[in-house]
Amino acid sequence: MQNFVYYTPTKVVFGKNAEDETGALVRAQGGTKVLLHYGSGSVKRSGLLDKIIASLNSAGVAHVELGGVVPNPRLSKVYEGIALCKKEGVDFLLAVGGGSVIDSAKAIAYGLAYEGDVWDFYEGKAEPTACYPVGTVLTIAAAGSEMSNSSVITKEEGGLKRACNTDYARPRFAVMNPELTYTLPAYQTASGAADIMMHTMERYFTTEPDTQLTDALAEGLLRTVKDCALTLRDAPQDYAARANLMWASSVSHNGLTGCGTVGDWACHQLEHELGGMLDCAHGAGLAAVWPAWARYVLPTCPARFAQFAVNVMGVTPAETDTATAEKGIAAMEDFYHAIGMPATLRELGYELTDAQLDELTEKCTYFHTRTIGGFQILNEKDIRAIYAMARG
Ligand code: NZQ
Ligand code: ZN
Repeated sequence: MQNFVYYTPTKVVFGKNAEDETGALVRAQGGTKVLLHYGSGSVKRSGLLDKIIASLNSAGVAHVELGGVVPNPRLSKVYEGIALCKKEGVDFLLAVGGGSVIDSAKAIAYGLAYEGDVWDFYEGKAEPTACYPVGTVLTIAAAGSEMSNSSVITKEEGGLKRACNTDYARPRFAVMNPELTYTLPAYQTASGAADIMMHTMERYFTTEPDTQLTDALAEGLLRTVKDCALTLRDAPQDYAARANLMWASSVSHNGLTGCGTVGDWACHQLEHELGGMLDCAHGAGLAAVWPAWARYVLPTCPARFAQFAVNVMGVTPAETDTATAEKGIAAMEDFYHAIGMPATLRELGYELTDAQLDELTEKCTYFHTRTIGGFQILNEKDIRAIYAMARG
């Protein structure tokens, strides 16, 4: 087991009507004027925005609004937010939505505490040293941004999707009412489940020994998400499944299921380029590349994949670890299909050309300057091969 630091400062307020606490939570954090940040309209249609405004008003917290955040949130919206917050004297960022809105709020929060161009942090030209406070009201179980240290932003010019990961951006609080997710389209629920599972799988696929407790937490979380996703496919308003999925979203990406392991994160790096180029839903993009990644790296440690196959996918062990592992990967593909997720890029809806695979590969290596992965280190040739296998 590796040494680790586990840091999760986010206060979680979970359950029915939790959103009524929002104004008091902002107040308790010292916020006096918030940027109310949201997406393309779901929070207006559901009436959530009005409830949040009422809660802010009753706590004596002023606000300005900025909606229009899109999935794979854009840098131009971040710049707009920074300018608005400076003009209005905003001292607290309140994200009402999913990972895209939260990540956009985090980026604005970084930008407000920095003299230079906030994109510097995303392309690794500078390191943040501060950040304005961020709070969240979550409306989709997926990205885990409500407790994570991460913000992922897409720069329109060049279609570059890049992350900035520091503890400064961990939200002060996360308001989570599972009922708020009832209105999600089935595709978004399933894509969210795929993403939640992947946040733990990226940590679980490790060659690090002696992580028994972390393995057990990870396997329990993965089985739970699998069950909830199947339940919600047939019964979208099942409260227990919505609640367990929502809590899994946070636990999967707040660090708990990676304590003592070495993270891999290759699938996320492969997907971020897909999101930047194709604007696909993040979880669906992950599902489209995972089987190819898994088959490519399986020889590095068949025993780990066999453990996953038996303990998570529930397959009967075969004669060798490799054979058990292959059954586990096939079972994962079946699960993706069962919840309406793709298992290849073709199933994701794209017939990619060789030139497009070259472009994805080049961007994924940050223009020939890096390798990716931890379970197995992947160079440019490996990355190209996995994209080609994923094409389907
Ligand atoms: O914009 P609105 O109208 O709100 O619609 C959204 C959006 O179209 C809709 N939606 C959300 N809640 C809803 C709802 N529709 C009806 N009812 C509700 N209750 O769902 C769509 C997707 O929303 P989005 O915020 O994009 O989803 P998600 O939470 O999956 O976030 C994806 C983004 O997060 C990044 C991804 O790369 C992607 O850009 N990630 C962020 C991470 C982090 N910060 O820790 C980690 C992840 O690995 C991921 O990379
Ligand atoms: Zn993810």
